[in-house]
Amino acid sequence: MLSLPKKVTIIEVGPRDGLQNEKQLVATEDKLQFIEGLQQAGVEEMELTSFVSPKWVPQMADSKEIVAGTKKVGRQFVLTPNERGINSAREAGADALAVFVGVSDSFNKKNINKSTAESMETLKPLIQKLKEDGVFVRACISTAFYCPFEGAVKPEDTIRLCRQFVDWGVAELSVADTIGMANPAESYGLFQQLKEAFPDTLITAHFHDTRKMALANIFAALQAGVDRFDTSAGGLGGCPFAPGATGNVATEDVVNMLHRMDIKTGIDLDLLAKAIEKIESHVSNPINTGIYTLYKNRS
Ligand code: HMG
Ligand code: MG
Repeated sequence: MLSLPKKVTIIEVGPRDGLQNEKQLVATEDKLQFIEGLQQAGVEEMELTSFVSPKWVPQMADSKEIVAGTKKVGRQFVLTPNERGINSAREAGADALAVFVGVSDSFNKKNINKSTAESMETLKPLIQKLKEDGVFVRACISTAFYCPFEGAVKPEDTIRLCRQFVDWGVAELSVADTIGMANPAESYGLFQQLKEAFPDTLITAHFHDTRKMALANIFAALQAGVDRFDTSAGGLGGCPFAPGATGNVATEDVVNMLHRMDIKTGIDLDLLAKAIEKIESHVSNPINTGIYTLYKNRS
């Protein structure tokens, strides 16, 4: 007997994960229109941008303008790995923060220029302060299944890292298959353990679709009790420091699959397609995800 939730929360990561890897600079105004279109489609949780070094990720250099220009609807995250980013994000008015760290040292060094342990040492007092200030903190866990440099990651290593964040009181763990290599059995296995180990923490699954297993991985995670998924409109995305990582699973394909199973998301597919249309002309490649292609052929 299938075990499925009645409702799923989609955390739209297109404006952040989707655009960070985009080679041509997207104008701030075009990003803001994309975000507005996503909000009109019913997206209530979103990663807007990241406060990181503009030398490392030039596409995210307009993070302050993005926060300032976005209507406050639902929960809007900004990502940052350090104190400087947290301070700038708070000054800009962000009240939901996402920190990020990789389970594997090699990836974390490439992404943040620190070992995983060094990153955790930096983050501990910062998270404590954010909690005192009443800020919603989500921890994004990269290379939770596979690392592009070290190969398979042991589930117990991922769970150990998650436990530290839970002990520090983060509200949410977003657990990522950074290079889109996990299979549905691995997805079910890890998410079942996470749901059991951390019953009071929001558990979110973040799948990249490099090997076209993301929808199957989501279906497996649903069976393990997960009802929150990070997805990216148009399937845009990828981490610039993870070789071989391609786009996130497409929001429209996930929403379609869920709606077809009578699971509510609060997202209107036609309006979502309109939001994707707004960004398509500003990114390098045409968007050819399943549901968006049907929409284009119809209109
Ligand atoms: P570093 O060079 O070791 O650090 O980089 P630094 O402290 O020496 O700073 C270098 C320069 O950046 C300095 O400027 C700093 O002031 C500045 P300079 O003195 O040279 O002019 N700087 C900043 N500027 C703006 N905002 C900041 C900031 N911090 C320093 N917050 C650093 C270390 C962490 C800064 C760098 O490695 C970095 O920015 N990394 C970001 C990497 C990134 O954004 N990756 C993508 C997001 S994670 C992801 O996509 C995975 C996820 O989707 C889940 C999954 O799929 O796995 C979440
Ligand atoms: Mg990602």
